Amino acid sequence: MLVDNSYDALMGDTGPARRAPFPLVPAVPAPQFTDGATLPGLVAEHGFSALVTTRRGASTHTVLFDTGVSPGGLAVNIERLGLDAGAIEAVVLSHGHFDHAGGFAGLARLRGRSGLPLTVHPLVWSRRRFAPADRPPWELPTLSRSALQAEGFEVIERRQPSLLLDGSILITGEVDRTTEFERGLPMHEAWLDGRWEPDPLILDDQSVVVHVRGRGLVVITGCGHAGAVNIARHALRLTGVDRLHALLGGFHLTGPAFEPIIEPTVAALAEMTPDLLVPAHCTGWKAQHRLAAALPTAFVPNAVGTSYTLAGSGSHGS
Ligand SMILES: [Fe+2]
Repeated sequence: MLVDNSYDALMGDTGPARRAPFPLVPAVPAPQFTDGATLPGLVAEHGFSALVTTRRGASTHTVLFDTGVSPGGLAVNIERLGLDAGAIEAVVLSHGHFDHAGGFAGLARLRGRSGLPLTVHPLVWSRRRFAPADRPPWELPTLSRSALQAEGFEVIERRQPSLLLDGSILITGEVDRTTEFERGLPMHEAWLDGRWEPDPLILDDQSVVVHVRGRGLVVITGCGHAGAVNIARHALRLTGVDRLHALLGGFHLTGPAFEPIIEPTVAALAEMTPDLLVPAHCTGWKAQHRLAAALPTAFVPNAVGTSYTLAGSGSHGS
């Protein structure tokens, strides 16, 4: 987990989660200390980014899913964790919102102009705003295709599901909205044909999926605007795999508008009995508490720098 809303340097390892405590992160100069250095830990910010590495036999593939909110946060965490940005073979955006698409400048700084493929839904370029009833509307930073291309990213637009890197990772493309309670983001609007129109569905929302042999699907959401339950069910339908092994990422259940759907979401996820549940980023503390209580063995709190190792079972190993 390269970017998330929280970092906790004291958290212990839990199940498949390995943390990144203070001593793991190299010191930085700091003149107020006697040695002229301190331990900075990692950067947390309101955004999301996950590095996904798959291994099948001797072959390994690495995809970056989202990039966080600030221009530099993702890159700082990559450097402090000692990761090789050159190993990233593709970038996938969960949707066009700025808290997932903010870190490209830092990534370009680490990699140079390397022609890295960037797979997005065509609606990520939409101009958007929030128009709450009780406050003035505020417009979101709009992602620029030409600016990303100028930074060296090779933009690929897809609405449909697609397999990346020798079929190691599935991108869902547009997610079928099948539950009756997951209705998207109220007050969210898009600029269409010269005026602001309601845009609660955020149709560009997509997730990445990995099938871990003998275990089931690992599904990673960005903000979960399509609905965490819709996304998990969509991934199962798309692949024909009958088991959800792990669900990680933002479930977007924070704030008063989403509190009414916490209970049906918790009930539906509990029914799917995932082995690992990591509600991160925009899930919100109330939903996290409910999910922790309802799925106590699966729930693991996230933190920046946490790595989750999910190994396959069966005769071929991982
Ligand atoms: Fe988000």
